[in-house]
Amino acid sequence: MATREIKIFPDPVLRAETKKIDKFDDELQKLVSDMFETMYFSDGIGLAAPQIGVSQKVVVIDYHGDKYTLVNPVITKCEGSVVNEEGCLSFPGIYEKVSSPEKISVDFYDEKGNEHSLDLDGFIACVFCHEIDHLNGRMLIDRVSPVKKTFIKKKLAKREGSKR
Ligand code: NI
Repeated sequence: MATREIKIFPDPVLRAETKKIDKFDDELQKLVSDMFETMYFSDGIGLAAPQIGVSQKVVVIDYHGDKYTLVNPVITKCEGSVVNEEGCLSFPGIYEKVSSPEKISVDFYDEKGNEHSLDLDGFIACVFCHEIDHLNGRMLIDRVSPVKKTFIKKKLAKREGSKR
């Protein structure tokens, strides 16, 4: 296992189109274990492959010990709307109240190629939506007001500048 570098907004890889996984091979197992390690190292509860620069449909989640690997996930049903405070490893230091579906149904494969269907509600539904959004190039910044968008861009640009 190895930790990988987390890509920070506005890295273009976060907007790149992602490919479906068609082989459940050793390369996928390595990607998944690296993603878990990177997520734990960064104290995250979810991580999508584009966030480490890999344009593939893979997500890992560990929410209070409930671990999920989502390969080629598809949300098949959304109901209701709730507001939660969300953060994102690609937006360090940014936490925003945004709305997401209250209940979802999701189909996905695990890293071994087994099919799963889940009905979820509560914060875990929000985590699934947030991570699956990453596979479609959609992020936290796309879900806030124009004023907040400007604020977030400035804050991250400042952070980037201070590293040099
Ligand atoms: Ni995120």
